[in-house]
Formats: sequence, C-alpha cells, structure tokens
Amino acid sequence: MIMKKIDISSNINGIKLPLCIMNASGVLCSTDKELSNLLHSFSGGVVTKSCTYKPRKGNVLPRYFEWSRGSINSMGLPNFGINFYLNFLERKKINKPIFLSISGLSAKENYFLIQKANESSKVTAIELNLSCPNLLEKEDMLGYDFDKVSNFIENIFKFNNKPLGIKLPPYFQDAHIKNIALILNQFPIFFITCINSLPNGLFIDVNKESVVIRPKKGFGGIGGSIIKPFALANIHKFYTYLRKDISIIGCGGISSGKDIFEHILCGASAVQIGTQFMKEGISVFERLKKELTLFLEKKNYSSINSFKGKLKNIQ
Ligand code: DHB
Repeated sequence: MIMKKIDISSNINGIKLPLCIMNASGVLCSTDKELSNLLHSFSGGVVTKSCTYKPRKGNVLPRYFEWSRGSINSMGLPNFGINFYLNFLERKKINKPIFLSISGLSAKENYFLIQKANESSKVTAIELNLSCPNLLEKEDMLGYDFDKVSNFIENIFKFNNKPLGIKLPPYFQDAHIKNIALILNQFPIFFITCINSLPNGLFIDVNKESVVIRPKKGFGGIGGSIIKPFALANIHKFYTYLRKDISIIGCGGISSGKDIFEHILCGASAVQIGTQFMKEGISVFERLKKELTLFLEKKNYSSINSFKGKLKNIQ
C-alpha cells in the first residue's frame, strides 16, 4: 500500500507553521527554560506568556487548579516584563514562528509594547491579548467593550508594521460576534485566536466545602475539555463573519487529534493547546501530531485545507 503524505503544516497569512499545533499563551511559556523547551519541541510555533512593561509577580497561590474535565486559573499576569522576552529571543536561534503575546494594563501601555515588538526582528507576529480575565486591579476586559476596541485598533495600525493578531474572549451571542467581526474586518489583521478561558467560573471542593484557588474568592478563567463547545461555536461564527484573509487560530478544549479536526472543520487554520499542555507536558505536541495525522489518514484527507471550515448543516 502506498501511503499518501499528509500535510499538517499551516499558513497563517504568510506565516508558515511547520505544524498547525502550538502552545496557548500562559501555559509553560514564561521562563527561559520553558521557552527553550518549546523552541526544541515538536510545536509548530511558540507563543510567549502575555507580557506587560514591568515584571509582575501575579496573584497569590494557589492560583491554578485542574480536574478531569477542565482547569480554573487566576494567575494575575505573572511575567518577567517585555524586555525579558525580547532579550530571550535575541539570544536564541529561532527555528519556528514566534508569537509575542502582549497584554498591557492600559491602551497606552499596549501601544508602547507593540512599538517595542515592532523593533525586534525575532518576533514573527504579535498576539494582542484583549481577554485577560484575572486582574484584581482591572475588572473590565477590552474584548467586551466594542466601542473601545475599534478606536484602540485604529490607533495601533497608525504605526504597527508587524503581523498582528488578536486573542479574543468567548462571546455568547451571535450579534456580539458579528459586531466584533465587523470591526476587525476594517483593519489589516493577520489572525484572531479564539477563545481565551471562560471568565468568572467557580470550581468547588465538596469535602472542604471550599473554593480551590485563593485569588478573587475562587473565581477564575475556565479552560479544558468542558469549554470545547464554546470554542467551536466562536470559531465557526467568526469563520462566517470575518474577511477570508483573516486566519483563525483555534484554542479551547483540545486534548486529542479528533478535537483538532473539529476546530479545523469549524474554520481554524491552526490550534493552540493550553490545559492539556499543562497536564501532559511538552510531549503533548508529538502525540497530537501523530493523532491528527492518523485521524486524517483514516478520513482520507491529505491536508487541513481540504476540510477547513467545511462543517455541514443538517438539511
Ligand atoms: C492571565 C490569564 C489569561 O486568560 C490571560 O489571557 C492573560 C493572563 C493571567 O491570569 O495571568
């Protein structure tokens, strides 16, 4: 039997990923060691921990908890500051696309961070995070403020020359997705990443009759397999409303090759792994690569483009 070569590389608007699977920002991508591991792994790209201008310690511990079907976190944006990430990249030989995640605490800080990222030749693209749900000092999330988002992005494209994508929170109404897509369609955005964690979840330990993380009285962002239906819905709706040259990076609830297939069927061009990467460690990328290849082989697909966005309705 002659085996067809199965192509699971991806092209995000000209950014070539050797494999369509990478890490989600936040998970094991903060320190020198973690980022070096990712550079040497099977992942198709490296996303860095969302950074601010100044280093931050983040919220009190415990701030992450996982159970069989999900995770809850209220990390509070612990990071070493943008200069750490730019210096790290400067020192390293880069062998795959680098997505610098940026999450400034104000519009002004974000403009500054984007300017700094523009000055680094090692940054392939910026993933601008408009969806961090865990800040004690800042409850509102830009991704839910449609008027501000429009003005903010307009200002960015007055000076930005780097490929730029936007990490979005989950939306729960069709009209919200339509509105955001109409705004994004007006700008030369390369990609969106959807979805970030579901904000303001609560997990309970019934034995202790207690919450499981300390910050924010136990409330935090939910990730993992229980959020997959929301990720798929957001991806598919954005796929119908966004300009076709804005790629979608799917994120949310992936723990198998079949899950990746579902994300791509909804319209994703590539995917990110968060909770499952945290559970399983760096070997997750090689496993998922094998599982996706096998899944496509069984389905007789030779590339992700042959089924991307082709989810069928029931007639
Ligand atoms: C954090 C969580 C997020 O979901 C995010 O997008 C950025 C930062 C955090 O708590 O560190």
